[in-house]
Amino acid sequence: MMKKTSVSEAVSVALLHPLGRLATHADKRDGAVVSDLYPKKSDAAAQLGSNSVFLEWHTDEAFHDVPPSFVCLYGVRGEPLAQTLIAEFNCSELPPEIARVLSEPHFSIRSDGSHAVLGQRKKAAVLDGEGADALVRYDPVFTDFDNAEAELAFAQFEAFTLRKSLSFTIDTGQALIFNNKIGIHARTEFPPRFDGTDRWIIKSQVVPVSTPEEKFHNSNRFWLNPIGA
Ligand SMILES: [Fe+2]
Repeated sequence: MMKKTSVSEAVSVALLHPLGRLATHADKRDGAVVSDLYPKKSDAAAQLGSNSVFLEWHTDEAFHDVPPSFVCLYGVRGEPLAQTLIAEFNCSELPPEIARVLSEPHFSIRSDGSHAVLGQRKKAAVLDGEGADALVRYDPVFTDFDNAEAELAFAQFEAFTLRKSLSFTIDTGQALIFNNKIGIHARTEFPPRFDGTDRWIIKSQVVPVSTPEEKFHNSNRFWLNPIGA
C-alpha cells in the first residue's frame, strides 16, 4: 500500500525517539527502520505482523543480542476488530525454582520469517535479572529447549504471564508504545479484505541509548539509522 506523505512515519519516530536509538535489523523488511504492517495473503497464516490469524504472545527480536527496548505501533488505518494485547507481570511473583530455570540459557530462539536470513538462533535465558527487575525474552513459536525441565518451566511461565492482560485497539492516528522487555504482547485475529482498506500499522523500535555501536556493526544484522536517512 502507498501513501502520499510520510507524516505518519515522522510522528511515529518523533514519539519514540526520546526513549532510545532508532534501530532495526539490516535483513528485516529490507532494513527499513520504520516498517509497514498490513495483512498480506501470502502471510495470512504465518506468525508475522503481516498475518491475520492470532499473532502469538512474544517479545520482539527475542533471538537477537540486542532486542528493542521500546516499540511504537502507529495506526495509519485503524481496524476495530484487531486488538493488541499486552501482558506485564512482576517476575518476583514467580516460584523461585521456575525463575532459576528460566534464568539459565536453556532456550534456543530462532529468527522469524520477517528476516531475510532465516535460521539465526540465540541460546539464551528467558529472564535476565532477578525479581521485579527481570527482563524478558519470549517467543514460544520459535523456541527449542535443552531439556524437559526447561520446557516445563517455560510452560509454567506461560500460564503465569497470561494471568492478566490489557487490550488496545489502535485507531487511525493513534500510537501505542510499549516496553518490549518487561512484558509480552500479541494481536487478535481479524478478517482481512486485501483490497487496500485493511488495518495499516507503522512500526518502529529503539534500543537503549547506552548500547555500544559495535554491537550493531559487528553483528551486521542490526542497523542504526538517524531520522531522515
Ligand atoms: Fe511484536
